[in-house]
Amino acid sequence: MTKKIAVFASGNGSNFQVIAEQFPVTFLFTDKRQAYALERADNLGLAHYSFELDEFASKAAYEEAIVALLNEHEIDLVCLAGYMKIVGPTLLEAYEGRIINIHPAYLPEFPGAHGIKDAWQAGVETSGVTVHWVDRGIDTGQIIKQVRVPRLKDDTLESFEARIHAAEYKLYAEVLRELGLKSK
Ligand code: GRF
Repeated sequence: MTKKIAVFASGNGSNFQVIAEQFPVTFLFTDKRQAYALERADNLGLAHYSFELDEFASKAAYEEAIVALLNEHEIDLVCLAGYMKIVGPTLLEAYEGRIINIHPAYLPEFPGAHGIKDAWQAGVETSGVTVHWVDRGIDTGQIIKQVRVPRLKDDTLESFEARIHAAEYKLYAEVLRELGLKSK
C-alpha cells in the first residue's frame, strides 16, 4: 500500500517543494492564505487547502477542520515543513505517531522558532538539522534522524542558513524513504 502524505507549511515552502518533487504528496495545507508555498503547489499542479486560526472560534475547532481534511483524504503521514504553529491536543489526539517535523538545528540544541539564528548567535562551530516525531512539546518529540552541519570560518548568517536548508532538503527525503515512502 502506498502511504499518503500531506505537507503542512506556513510560508516559503522550499522544503515542501523538494518533498513534492520527489514523492507523491496528496495535498499541501497552509495556515496562511498568502503563503508562497501555495504558489509552489500551483506550479506543481498539487492540491492545496488553507485556513487560518482566526477564522475559527477556537484552536480546537481549527484543528477539527484539519483532522476532517486528513481523514477525508485518508492521510497516513503528516509532514510539517515550516508549519509555524504548535500542534494542539485535537490534532495530536487524532494523529499522534503520524506527524513528523523538520527542525533547523541539532535537537535538543536550539529548539523553537529561530533555530538557525539562535545557533548563529551562540557562536557554535556546528549546528545541524533534525527530523522528529511531533508530541505536545516544542521540538521535543522522539528524534528520527539528524545530521550535523558546520559553521565555516567565512560564513555569514545567510551562507550558514543556506547550508542548513540544503541539509534539510536532503535529510527530509532520506527520512521519508526510510519510513517506507516510494519516490515518484
Ligand atoms: C525551515 O528551516 C524549517 O526547518 C523551519 O522553517 C523553515 C521553513 O522553510 N521550521 P521553508 O518554508 O520550507 O522554505
